Amino acid sequence: MKNRSLISINDFSKEEQIGILDLAESFEKQPTRKILEGHVVANLFFEPSTRTRLSFDTAVNRLGGKVIGFADTSSTSVQKGESLKDTIIMVSNYSDLIVMRHPKDGSARYASEVSSVPIINAGDGANQHPTQCLLDMYSIRKTQGTLENLDIAFVGDLKYGRTVHSLVMALTNFNCRFHLVSPPELKLPSAVKMHIKEKQLEYTQYTELQDVLPIADIVYMTRIQRERFSDPIEYEKVKNAYILRNNMLKGSKESLRILHPLPRVNEINVDIDDNPKAYYFQQALNGVYVRQALVTSILGVI
Ligand code: CP
Repeated sequence: MKNRSLISINDFSKEEQIGILDLAESFEKQPTRKILEGHVVANLFFEPSTRTRLSFDTAVNRLGGKVIGFADTSSTSVQKGESLKDTIIMVSNYSDLIVMRHPKDGSARYASEVSSVPIINAGDGANQHPTQCLLDMYSIRKTQGTLENLDIAFVGDLKYGRTVHSLVMALTNFNCRFHLVSPPELKLPSAVKMHIKEKQLEYTQYTELQDVLPIADIVYMTRIQRERFSDPIEYEKVKNAYILRNNMLKGSKESLRILHPLPRVNEINVDIDDNPKAYYFQQALNGVYVRQALVTSILGVI
């Protein structure tokens, strides 16, 4: 993986993805090691983030590397009209690896074409979020003991949810069954469903959350992505489509775990937070170990 960019989850083979998860396990056991001394990672966030940016910061800091970058563009020369291409060329002169989040689909692939250092896509529009995907896979494997033959329910905004797109694509390598719960306006895009069909796997589309709770091994809740709607009235229609509450989990499997890439708005009621089936905060912590595995693999120090 040395010097390779990660733009789509499919840029890494199934074996390479599993290799990252295995390495992340070793970082979970020993997260502080000075193996990135002398390396500079640039975090360029053109769109808001809490978990992704700060967990990359933590991952690099715990390994002795340095982080440069910005959390928004208000203090950068983007405000003076500097292009994405020029920004990436400049920052690739200052760093060994660029982690980039951007609101436009395809921006990360474009950045990788003009950069002299590898690019990690930290989310590009409604397209892909491959590092979230790897930490989701890590969380599923850790809680279920396997990634194979699971019933995975995806709930909420399957149209604009980039984390859903990446994770569905990855799980098609593991013979999972896909239960897709969304309002009719927010169904999983056909281009992503094609990946399921190509592997001849099952998927079922639902509009009612209750229908999947008794059968799921994983319920992957998502936020309705207000910022992706061009018409606010359309957002208002679907914003409260699904709210998972503690009393709805009666009759679910003992081994069920509830995941969410976060941030949540109201789609998981806080009365679930103390239920042992709630795993979303631990899931976000797992992101540090997975990102340590990714950064060290791409920089070739491990
Ligand atoms: N899951 C995720 O991408 O969270 P942030 O937007 O806070 O980075």
